[in-house]
Amino acid sequence: MRSAIGLPQKTRGVLAALGLRKRMRTVFHPVSTEVAGQIMKVKELVAVQEVEEALSKQEMHELRRPDPGYYVETAMPRIRNIIFFLFLLRWTKRAVLQLKGRGIIGIIIDTYVATRRTLYGLFLRAPGVRTQVRKQVSQAISNLEAKLVPQGPDVTRYLSLPKEGWGEEQVKAELVKLEGMEHTRWEDGRVSGAVYHGGKDLTKLQTEAFGLFTVSNPIHPDVFPGVRKMEAEVVAMGCLVEKGANSETRQVLAMFNAPQGAAGVSTSGGTESILMACLSARQKAYTERGVKEPQMVIPETAHPAFRKAASYFGIQVHLVATPAPSYKAHIPSISRLINSNTILLVGSAPNFPHGIIDDIAALSRLAVRKKVPLHVDCCLGSFLMPFLEKAGFVTDSFDFRLQGVTSISCDTHKYGFAPKGNSVLLYRTKDLRAYQYFISPDWSGGVYASPSIAGSRPGALIAGCWASMMSQGEAGYISTCHQIVGATKKIELAIRELPTLSSDLSIIGKPLVSVIAFTSGTINIYDIADTMTAKGWHLNALQSPPAIHVAVTLPIVAAADKLIGDLVEVVEAEKERERVRVAQGKGKKGVAPGETAALYGVAGSLPNKSIVVDLAGGFLDTLYKA
Ligand SMILES: Cc1ncc(COP(=O)(O)O)c(C=O)c1O
Repeated sequence: MRSAIGLPQKTRGVLAALGLRKRMRTVFHPVSTEVAGQIMKVKELVAVQEVEEALSKQEMHELRRPDPGYYVETAMPRIRNIIFFLFLLRWTKRAVLQLKGRGIIGIIIDTYVATRRTLYGLFLRAPGVRTQVRKQVSQAISNLEAKLVPQGPDVTRYLSLPKEGWGEEQVKAELVKLEGMEHTRWEDGRVSGAVYHGGKDLTKLQTEAFGLFTVSNPIHPDVFPGVRKMEAEVVAMGCLVEKGANSETRQVLAMFNAPQGAAGVSTSGGTESILMACLSARQKAYTERGVKEPQMVIPETAHPAFRKAASYFGIQVHLVATPAPSYKAHIPSISRLINSNTILLVGSAPNFPHGIIDDIAALSRLAVRKKVPLHVDCCLGSFLMPFLEKAGFVTDSFDFRLQGVTSISCDTHKYGFAPKGNSVLLYRTKDLRAYQYFISPDWSGGVYASPSIAGSRPGALIAGCWASMMSQGEAGYISTCHQIVGATKKIELAIRELPTLSSDLSIIGKPLVSVIAFTSGTINIYDIADTMTAKGWHLNALQSPPAIHVAVTLPIVAAADKLIGDLVEVVEAEKERERVRVAQGKGKKGVAPGETAALYGVAGSLPNKSIVVDLAGGFLDTLYKA
């Protein structure tokens, strides 16, 4: 006879499945005196075995399946181990890549910088300090506001719609007043960069083009076929200019020597072109290589639009030093930072701060070897870089003739003299372009497709761009390249060779295009910037290293001699002030920093830049103060 405990496993499974197991345990508890009755019951239950035998294999399998809880219980430790192992693997991989990319010394420096930043951040938040910092930041923002936002009894602020619309004359009169507000005189060549003016006649032509295409929008190519045609031609002229009528010799040549199969888009400006280039590279890496933690390697001098793209599109940025004396991106450092997550390398032709062209040929070789896309930021170089050689200047290779170059951004609204709101992004292949497209096939409003960030776009600006390029032509651009780069060389030569300037100022690297940056080992360069500002100049202050730059434009060409003359005066005056201070035994101590020195010299040198971020945020708020 079998006891309940001794029932075969199989039978117990069936009993359990039939809900009898519990009952059975109760029934066979050894305290009972009705053993005989129980034995009978057991017999009955053993009959269940027969049921079991009658069940199909599948039914038995179903019946024997343990509780889901059983699975969870036994699988949990294993899952925990796997997660821990993956976590460990991920962090080990990160640590190895970090070590490879930055080296031990780099990691120690990074840790030191991060620690200082954190500690200084905590210090800034300490009671007392925080109140003081807030007070000073809001004072600085109020000063800024007083400068930028006109106030006073003679200023009328329009903060709500007029009840009745104004007449045409009234609107025009107000526009003339607004246009005439006091400003730094770009018209007299006093502003570095910013206004890439192609001359009054060109402005007039652009205005007429705007008038013809005011309402146009390239999102509706059937409604505005002329705008579609112009936009395609701007891209083609900018990158693909097809040469030769005969199809055998016909090859796609261009300002940027794009190969056959190349493609492009137009955008609203350099920043959008760069955003799109980064997006395309990210999508390509995700689609073709499954990269989910994208990284890009950029020179520290590359335009902040790359950092913006990284912030928008979730890309990790590795900044690479651009050390003296060349101030070009350090190629071995870039090479070390490339790994399986790298989606893009970047080089500038030239960069904004120092006007230096990175070693694009070396970057291209690296890109080919490591099979990573390479973007060349030619936003600033725009219509100067492609014409340097023809205008008689030394140049450097930077375009699609270098096999590793996969995309180039070129701002038609800079040295192409198109109205602001125009840029072109060129790709080596159509596939690369397609990665930046946005297509929504199932929207209730219909199939939606747009090539870049904006939806509706101003066709008038495209018309202005097309008109500018057609009216300048290649000869026009070679001529303006000659004038602009010629004036830049003149200023550079004065700084290198005029005794007053060469003794105290030094040019950063060897600029080949339209920007020259200079620094000083003897005078506070920011004081020079402030004194030049007081003389009506708007030059750009730079940081790391502290410097000033001039981006020469056509209006500056005519003012180059005046610029050199004023610089000589300012440097002499600064040196004299320094001599007096030293004679009075004060040296540099006790000198209140000027505005630029306060921002870049004092605030900029703090280990934690949160104060600068607060100031900049306040500045942005000020822009919307009516
Ligand atoms: C080298 C470089 N890249 C990109 C940009 C961004 O261009 P934008 O201001 O048209 O967005 C600039 C602007 O000065 C630049 O100098």
